Amino acid sequence: MQRELEPELMEDANQVNAYAEADFEKPHSEFIQRLKAFVNEPKFNGKALDLGCGPGDISRRFAKAFPLCTIDAIDGSKAMIDYAVNASSPEFKSRLNFIHGKLPDTELSVENYDIILSNSVLHHLPDPQILWQVVKKYSKPGTRIVIMDLLRPGSVSMARTLVEMYAITEPKILQQDFYNSLLAAFTLKEINAQIAQAGVSLAVEKISDRHVFVSGIMP
Ligand SMILES: C[S@@+](CC[C@H](N)C(=O)[O-])C[C@H]1O[C@@H](n2cnc3c(N)ncnc32)[C@H](O)[C@@H]1O
Repeated sequence: MQRELEPELMEDANQVNAYAEADFEKPHSEFIQRLKAFVNEPKFNGKALDLGCGPGDISRRFAKAFPLCTIDAIDGSKAMIDYAVNASSPEFKSRLNFIHGKLPDTELSVENYDIILSNSVLHHLPDPQILWQVVKKYSKPGTRIVIMDLLRPGSVSMARTLVEMYAITEPKILQQDFYNSLLAAFTLKEINAQIAQAGVSLAVEKISDRHVFVSGIMP
């Protein structure tokens, strides 16, 4: 099945609210568990960058899991960043910095990070190299890279089945978003080719019927 692009930024207020209030407990806690296992250092202390942070659930979970880290979290949607700022409790305010900016145009003031994470953003990008080039730009030797995204199913009917399996209790707008995202996602083969083209060495692993996990340490 051919890839079908979906709108890059999530800016519609209804869409933002539906996404921010959806139940992502399972995939988001799994992302953080896998990230923790990969970092394998409970007292990990450094600067983190969350690319395409949306309403900030992953950024807050990361902040909770790594209390010694500071986090820059960026998103091109003003509505998403406003939601993220409002949803973050004061305990995180000193370490969690939400930035409104579109990648790759926005220049970050920090030159490089100790860890770069991103969940569910790659499939939004018309050109996937944006993500891999931003990762390269803001990393240094030893930077940990942890990325999770959806995988494109083999057919439209498989995409519909996945929506029924995992989003049937969610509002219609979210079901439609999930369906659009599945059609916009990449295959394992395409992600491996993107990474090879970017000249980075990262492990690409299929971790569920709809998710891919990409991880590695910059040489
Ligand atoms: C599906 S949401 C994922 C949000 C969050 N990472 C999570 O896991 O809940 C994708 C987000 O990527 C943002 N996005 C897409 N393209 C972007 C770009 N070029 N620069 C910054 N943010 C972008 C969208 O606005 C949206 O908030």
